[in-house]
Amino acid sequence: MSTARSHWSTRFAFILAAVGSAVGLGNLWKFPYMAGANGGGAFVLIYLLCIAAVGVPIFIAELYIGQKGQKNAVASFEATHEKNTPWRCIGFMGLASAFIILSFYSVVGGWILDFSFKSIFNQFAGKSDEEVKGFLGALFESPWTQVGWHFVFMTGTVGIVLGGVRNGIEKWNKILMPTLFALLGVLFIYSFTLSGFSQSISFLFSPDTSKLTAAGVLEAVGHSFFTLSLGMGAIITYGSYLKKKEGLAKIAITVAFLDTLVALIAGVVIFSVVFTHGMEPGGGPTLLFQTLPVLFSKMTGGYILAVAFFLLVAFAAFSSSVSLLEVAVAYWVETKKKDRVRTTLLIGIVIFGIGVLSALSTNVLSDVKIFKFTFFDLFDKLTSSIFLPLGGVLISLFYGWVLGPKAIEESLSLGKKPSLMKIGLLWTTRVLAPVAVMIVLVKGVMDF
Ligand code: PHE
Repeated sequence: MSTARSHWSTRFAFILAAVGSAVGLGNLWKFPYMAGANGGGAFVLIYLLCIAAVGVPIFIAELYIGQKGQKNAVASFEATHEKNTPWRCIGFMGLASAFIILSFYSVVGGWILDFSFKSIFNQFAGKSDEEVKGFLGALFESPWTQVGWHFVFMTGTVGIVLGGVRNGIEKWNKILMPTLFALLGVLFIYSFTLSGFSQSISFLFSPDTSKLTAAGVLEAVGHSFFTLSLGMGAIITYGSYLKKKEGLAKIAITVAFLDTLVALIAGVVIFSVVFTHGMEPGGGPTLLFQTLPVLFSKMTGGYILAVAFFLLVAFAAFSSSVSLLEVAVAYWVETKKKDRVRTTLLIGIVIFGIGVLSALSTNVLSDVKIFKFTFFDLFDKLTSSIFLPLGGVLISLFYGWVLGPKAIEESLSLGKKPSLMKIGLLWTTRVLAPVAVMIVLVKGVMDF
């Protein structure tokens, strides 16, 4: 089976795909509103610490397990350790996460598509603030529109994954990622010209620790997993399409750096617009769908800005959603020896079906509560606060204790000689990361 496996054509193609997976709604939608709601700078500081101290080591661990195992997110645990090892349960939990995350991710992707169309057809122009804000409410109230856009988003994701690793995922990322960076660059340069720019910079980069709550710290830890696509096998799966032994640490640092850069630039752009118009940064999840369109409707050049912005977010969402779907497809195609096209379609339909529950959470099913959450919130909480951190802890322990120093030497390609990096990586994956993440996990479970 392994001879038939495809691989990325180059190391650069892999980095693009990994950045594509990491950069998504987490960076452009979640990060800015979380930072806004948690007081800005202090939250950003904790988030940066988490990326460096927990995110990068676990990223290296996942890359290593995938590359060494050369198999999907379940079988790679067996290939790197032993047949039927209980550690492969991490992979099964990852599969469950892939289904659940993609199901609600696609619903939000659908909102983005809806707003992309609205901006292309210039629907924000000439409207009152209340009317522009009303678009989101109208979308939420209409089950058919939401399910329809969710369908379109899933169809796009399935369409890309159908092409396979080289002709689907890699090819699309080569188009989507450079466009995304170019659009973000243009928006960033534009934000220099806004009077709210310097206020935005000081909001995000001068930490005021008095604004930080325990819940904010824990959110930052949880988000560092979500944003780097960790804890559920996406990076294991992508890593399994890497050919030779590469210096994995360098790759992990590059991807984490670019992912963070995108989140920070998106934050600067969004808050520059927000402060220029004297609006509140703590707008929450609706920041992107209400605050920004209101502002775009008032600004000179707002039409172009709105189109560029929503397309940027749509591209980022697609390049992440394909990595979620690939986790499940790779497992069924390899382990169960199923046909790739039929499997992709079938899994796509199942995930679409689960996602309908989230699409209906703001209308028909808004009164259906499980543990006091709607389906949408339940799926988001369950994965971001429990499955991903738990997966992360276990992956870290598997790598640090079970695979141990030899794996770390291979990951860093430094040979046997002792080095600070080796010791650092060993003890972060053995102790530091698991302990820190365990704390988030306990809090996540207590929230239910
Ligand atoms: N990292 C993606 C984002 O920031 C989401 C994601 C999570 C993708 C887990 C794959 C796996 O939007």
